[in-house]
Amino acid sequence: MDIVLIGLPGSGKSAVGRRLAGRHGAPFIDLDEAIQREAGARIPEIFADEGEAGFRARERAVIAALGEPDAGPGVRRVIAPGGGAIVDPRNRWRLFQGRVPVWLDSRPEVLAQRLRRSPTIRPLIAGRDPIRAIRDLTAARGRFYSAATRIASVAEVASVVDAVDGLVAGMSASSATTLLRAETSIGRIVIGSGIAGRLLTDELRRLGATRAVVLTEPGAWGAVGAAIRDELGAAGLPLELVELPQGEAAKTLAVVEGAMRELARRRVERPEPLVAVGGGAVGDTAGFIAATYLRGVPFIQVPTTLVAQIDSSIGGKTGVDLPEGKNLVGAFHQPASIIIDIALLASLPERERRAALGEAVKMAALGDERLFELLEARGEAIASGDPAAVADGSVAELVERCAWAKVEVVAADEKEAAVRIALNLGHSLGHAFEAAGGYRDLRHGEAVAFGLRAACRIGVAAGVTPPERAARIERLLDNLGLGRGLLPYPLQSVLDALGADKKHRAGHLRWVLPSAAGHVVRDDIDAALVRDVAAGLLEPSQVGGAA
Ligand SMILES: NC(=O)c1ccc[n+]([C@@H]2O[C@H](COP(=O)([O-])OP(=O)(O)OC[C@H]3O[C@@H](n4cnc5c(N)ncnc54)[C@H](O)[C@@H]3O)[C@@H](O)[C@H]2O)c1
Repeated sequence: MDIVLIGLPGSGKSAVGRRLAGRHGAPFIDLDEAIQREAGARIPEIFADEGEAGFRARERAVIAALGEPDAGPGVRRVIAPGGGAIVDPRNRWRLFQGRVPVWLDSRPEVLAQRLRRSPTIRPLIAGRDPIRAIRDLTAARGRFYSAATRIASVAEVASVVDAVDGLVAGMSASSATTLLRAETSIGRIVIGSGIAGRLLTDELRRLGATRAVVLTEPGAWGAVGAAIRDELGAAGLPLELVELPQGEAAKTLAVVEGAMRELARRRVERPEPLVAVGGGAVGDTAGFIAATYLRGVPFIQVPTTLVAQIDSSIGGKTGVDLPEGKNLVGAFHQPASIIIDIALLASLPERERRAALGEAVKMAALGDERLFELLEARGEAIASGDPAAVADGSVAELVERCAWAKVEVVAADEKEAAVRIALNLGHSLGHAFEAAGGYRDLRHGEAVAFGLRAACRIGVAAGVTPPERAARIERLLDNLGLGRGLLPYPLQSVLDALGADKKHRAGHLRWVLPSAAGHVVRDDIDAALVRDVAAGLLEPSQVGGAA
């Protein structure tokens, strides 16, 4: 097996790596050294000549050059990337898959002392108070390091090597890869591939559960249930399934009542956790049940659709629909943990996958340039389910960037009092189109794509969106086959639905509109402009007569 040693500068990756490799007669690959060899220059010089971007490009190249992991028994290679290499989701995907990542962790004081003695200049730390710099790096990178197995690196090199050896002994290469693990104010979030069953078992145990009470629906469970059932069974946790209807039909008060009565019959007690395995419909409904059954029980989200992994499972908004409208009943209830396993997406139909990218384009338009570039380069491959988009880490990167962007926005504003409104970019007219189609025609992300086009056009006309920014967003939607053609809904129905939008304040709809590299919120958009833009997205025969 390949061992990958990660950790902050000064954590001992080189010293431990050399000794470990020597003990096993295996090669030690120091990726920073490989970069310097390739470049014929020292790292500070590369930073000075090519900037951090140039250095990171070189880093990606040496990681890609590692090739396939060596899955043979014992320690085959010891690899030590630079401290920042694992910030890039694609690097983590390439480095961790099929290998054993080990995090050498030390206290900032210890690291600072080692760095003071070290002859190597570290560009991200040079010229700063080392303890402060290390604390900042730990805060920024902790979620990436925590994906690996942690070994305390305070002892002598030989004992750290012993500890790594002890960890690796008896281990065989696993198809499960953890890419990110974070403790946040909105729950524990873990992203990986092939992790769902094992991690769910661990989380249930952590929460003191003696059985797994899983709310799901036939589509999701049929696709992903077997692996989860097997892991729970192996761990001796009895599985109790509560089946909800498939799709939006789950989101009714009648279904909530039926499921709650089932829980009561099974004597589910506080604080037994409930588990949601499914897409956004299951997550919203099960989350609402968890928020209100016995006045609230803990809740674990295992999202199985792309929409749920990048959006709906994060943020604690739970709820169901009424005949009068969507999501009219609900509660904020944060899950204890969210287990995002991209391997569960393999069976997802193309339409679901593509539609979800409507939300991803929104996230990119809100200012994530790297996500924008990823969607431009690999969006079509992701949408069409091309296995190469999984293999090269594009899917992992997409899910992580979108999910983490949502975590950051929601953690800053859980109850949508301020910045969280940004997430509504494209949603005002998007929801109105969805409603006009009776929630049957358009998938949510497809409606958002039309809404995004509308927001771009309103933004340009109102002078807040630079035309080239709007053109770039619309071009990306074109290339992904989203929001194309004209919708067959009466303009008046769309305008009526818009009038019922929840984001009104003092009678004015608050529009989130794209700006040069982010968004602005405006409540003074002229109704005639909105009408014209909406009309431009509808079939001409549907436009006459609307007030
Ligand atoms: N709470 C929030 O913040 C939030 C955000 C966005 C959307 N939502 C809600 O999410 C819902 C839409 O979620 P969705 O798009 O996931 O739809 P969904 O839950 O209805 O799932 C879509 C379809 O995919 C199937 N499916 C699920 N997992 C599968 C898998 N792994 N393989 C194959 N098929 C699978 C389902 O059976 C279903 O037919 C809407 O109700 C929307 O309002 C909520």
